[in-house]
Amino acid sequence: MNKLTIDQIDLAGKRVFIRVDFNVPITDAGLIREETRIVAALPTIRLALKKGGRVIIASHFGRPEGKVMPEYSLRPMADRLAQLLGQAVPLAPDCVGAEVERLVDALQPGEILMLENVRFQPGETKNDPQLADAFARLADVVVNDAFGAAHRAHASNVGIAQRVSPAVAGLLMAAEIDYFNKAVRHPQHPVTAILGGSKVSTKIAVIDSLLDKVDQILIGGAMAFTFFKARGYTVGTSLVEDEMLDVARHAEAKAREKGVVLLLPVDVVIAQSRQAETTQIVPVEEIPEGWMGLDIGPETVRLFDHALQSAKTIVWNGPLGLFEKPAFAHGTLALADCVARSTALSIAGGGDTDAALRQAGVAERISFISTGGGAFMEWLEGKELPGITVLTEA
Ligand code: 3PG
Repeated sequence: MNKLTIDQIDLAGKRVFIRVDFNVPITDAGLIREETRIVAALPTIRLALKKGGRVIIASHFGRPEGKVMPEYSLRPMADRLAQLLGQAVPLAPDCVGAEVERLVDALQPGEILMLENVRFQPGETKNDPQLADAFARLADVVVNDAFGAAHRAHASNVGIAQRVSPAVAGLLMAAEIDYFNKAVRHPQHPVTAILGGSKVSTKIAVIDSLLDKVDQILIGGAMAFTFFKARGYTVGTSLVEDEMLDVARHAEAKAREKGVVLLLPVDVVIAQSRQAETTQIVPVEEIPEGWMGLDIGPETVRLFDHALQSAKTIVWNGPLGLFEKPAFAHGTLALADCVARSTALSIAGGGDTDAALRQAGVAERISFISTGGGAFMEWLEGKELPGITVLTEA
């Protein structure tokens, strides 16, 4: 997969339609709570402006389902982008239509216009051909920097790219592709994957796909208890998906067949409820009735650390415990530190993983943190991402 990138094409005087993913958390008061995705798109936007492009920024935000909902306006993102760039970023009243075309026509090289939320249009998520035509009328060149939305085949990423040539990768998109190739498609071995999260059902496709690629898998988070129950341990009131017990057994069998080391926690932090302050650390075989496992214990951190320090490549998705609660955050934060200390190429992704790495203060020491949530997961599952497939080959 060798896609044309923004730095390889001429943009002078052209209408450059940059699809970004500014789907970021905001407070009830409309303030941006976490701006990583906005900051991550800046190099592409700055490059397009510097190359003399007439820049149009498009994004979705939330799921307004084809209706105009003021709480999903991109106003806060336009204002923040203007601050970060140090230049005006007017927000168009819509994302397509005569008024938007007029504003785009009036853009001068080095100027920027942000379109209103593309999901205010009912055709966006259906990749409606008429809407895609309307987006295409705004653009001479398409730049896709929205890795976070690359698993969606929508009008503003896929439809437009089928109609406008070239449709190239932005710098963020190119970095996502590059690191994914290095870490997952053609990694240096040994590769160690860390998988956390609460449910086997949402992670099994990732586990299954990674079992074909990695040397070691470290499993934590509540989903470990489904594995333990499948092995016949008593797990107290820990979260278990009973319908996934066979799936967990099958994953362990596949690991053995493939010679992949699948490590589960050896000790856990337990409490009587998620809200409880009183905790204990016990071996995984000794979880008492009425107690639930909510984090990995210190022995597990040591075991996992050992597996990580021998790796040349580390792939991480999902926290290892209920890390939003300080009483159960230690395992995830300690593991973040282990990854940061390792000399391996490390790639992490998924909203919570990103948050955990930031909370641990080690985000700068990870080789690459993906801006994708669902997109990163689907990629780990081995799926093609339509937003990338559609881009012009180099
Ligand atoms: C995300 O946050 O994962 C992306 O912006 C995609 O959002 P969506 O799940 O609403 O399509």
